[in-house]
Amino acid sequence: MPFTTLLYEMAEGIARLTINRPDKLNALNGTVIAELGDAVTRIESDAGVRGVILTGAGSKAFVAGADIAEVGGQTPMEGQARAVAGQRMMRRLERCGKPVVAAVNGFALGGGCELAMACHLRVASESASFGQPEVKLGLAPGYGGTVRLPRLVGRGRALELLLTGAMIDAQEAWRIGLVNRVVPADRLLDESEQLLRRILDNGPLALRACLELVDAGLDMSTDEALGQEAVWFGLLSASADMREGTRAFLEKRKAVFTGS
Ligand code: COA
Repeated sequence: MPFTTLLYEMAEGIARLTINRPDKLNALNGTVIAELGDAVTRIESDAGVRGVILTGAGSKAFVAGADIAEVGGQTPMEGQARAVAGQRMMRRLERCGKPVVAAVNGFALGGGCELAMACHLRVASESASFGQPEVKLGLAPGYGGTVRLPRLVGRGRALELLLTGAMIDAQEAWRIGLVNRVVPADRLLDESEQLLRRILDNGPLALRACLELVDAGLDMSTDEALGQEAVWFGLLSASADMREGTRAFLEKRKAVFTGS
């Protein structure tokens, strides 16, 4: 089925996903969440996809949150189901095993900030802004804002954003560690792609290991996480990529990884 609210473009191993409802500031309605889920399935299953860039259409918004028109009329059971559907999609994106960079081109509010946080890295345009304004609507975040934000910026800063509902600009988001870098608006996609390409020069299995280890390790004890790290370190020693990487270093040439 073709997407109606997303653009999905592939170029040289990178899938570029653009949320395409600019007249509604790319707000996440049920269709966007379902189509993002389908896009994640495609990303997971297509071996040709090595990395992902996620952005919003237009110059104003990355995503201005869950669709308030839908949320406003929901029953408690519908609200819970909406939260679970969005959480599942974002968790699958976070665990897809391939690096995902959010190119944040404008407002990243509520579900938009949550979606950006479910990506592995965030590049923000100078005009981007971030916030979790749900409390202003009498709501709390439903797509992982209370979970990922404190893990990224620490409990105190997260609670300030969550409790005030205030918006912060890209520089402040960088200062508190919410985004990895801030770039001029007209450089956003190029800089995001450059960052992703630098990552994709490395061994795909090693990248997958880093993603899985950090993801699972954050919820483990130090000893469990170290044990898991040692297992992966050993496992990667069985890969052709490890042999190629170490040999290329010794032969003073660039490694050519195959992901095997
Ligand atoms: N859900 C549904 N529609 C939204 C939306 C959202 N989260 N955010 C913006 N829109 C719609 C507006 O209703 C408007 O639609 P209309 O032209 O049919 O009236 C359109 O997008 C443009 O938004 P507008 O508010 O006119 O733009 P602005 O530049 O004046 O303000 C924001 C921009 C982002 C500050 C403002 O739109 C906003 O506060 N949005 C909601 C953010 C939020 O609370 N997100 C969390 C949701 S749980």
